[in-house]
Amino acid sequence: QWTPGQIIEDAVIRIREQVGTDKVILGLSGGVDSSVAATLIHRAIGDQLICVFVDNGLLRLGEGDQVMDTFAENMGVNVIRVDAEQRFLDGLAGVSDPEKKRKIIGGLFVDIFEEEAAKLSDAKWLAQGTIYPDVIESAGAKTGKAHNIKSHHNVGGLPDYMKLSLLEPLRELFKDEVRAVGEEMGLPHAMVWRHPFPGPGLGVRILGEVKKEYADILRRADAIYIEELYRTGHYDKISQAFAVFLPVKSVGVMGDGRTYEYVIALRAVETKDFMTAGWYPLPYAELAHISGRIINEVKGVNRVTYDISSKPPATIEWE
Ligand code: XMP
Repeated sequence: QWTPGQIIEDAVIRIREQVGTDKVILGLSGGVDSSVAATLIHRAIGDQLICVFVDNGLLRLGEGDQVMDTFAENMGVNVIRVDAEQRFLDGLAGVSDPEKKRKIIGGLFVDIFEEEAAKLSDAKWLAQGTIYPDVIESAGAKTGKAHNIKSHHNVGGLPDYMKLSLLEPLRELFKDEVRAVGEEMGLPHAMVWRHPFPGPGLGVRILGEVKKEYADILRRADAIYIEELYRTGHYDKISQAFAVFLPVKSVGVMGDGRTYEYVIALRAVETKDFMTAGWYPLPYAELAHISGRIINEVKGVNRVTYDISSKPPATIEWE
């Protein structure tokens, strides 16, 4: 019944009433929810909003620059970009257990975000892109009905001593409404309709220990895969697609020589709720083309496989 235009108008009025002339901090991830929240709050209070974007070095190819282009350059939003790649790589060195990796990445996020927030000592509000399904999910978690097998993390709240009040302008909206609002406010279509990306990023798509070399290989393979899915029109029919880096080497042959290089696995799933999922039947011809491009164009990879596992028993991510 509500049009995106009305939702925006209403939210803008409410945000202005709530925060008055106070400053607001928001952790921008580049995902749909935090992007729409930032855009909406910026529309309401402009320069009173300060976004903190932690670049953890585990983002997709060019993603950090895209976030800065969209928000800082095009929309004139205040964005502090924290280049924290080395801190995350150092923190993850030698760690291969998936749950430990998640905890380290989540912990560093919070630490870095707090450090930045502490510098903005006159801020009174912490804005988050919480949407209605998140509200229900965490209510479920409190009643013991938590259904996530892996410890999912996103930027959490701040410690009590910072005494920030929470501003959650998307709290009553479903995902499709959030997307409609984002499009109405002029966010790029590709950003609004992008597949979900986990908080720990490529950290859970590089199996075992995370190394910069692996992340660079994975970013390039993933970019080719996604580019081909857009080009062939499959992207919008798939719920989530990504490449995974397998730190095993296998033998190959290139020209006259023998190669001994890494493996990339491709994943694409169809799902309504991400609780169960089926693998997406990409046509053989597309698979052949994508595999050929990755092996030819990404140095360090000589083998590509396609994941044909459903959830359950497999999960969508490999870690
Ligand atoms: P799984 O692998 O559990 O993933 O089948 C279900 C959905 O959740 C996403 N996912 C995460 N999202 N933090 C997030 O914000 C996480 O730690 C995390 N782990 C998985 C996954 O990408 C899929 O969409």
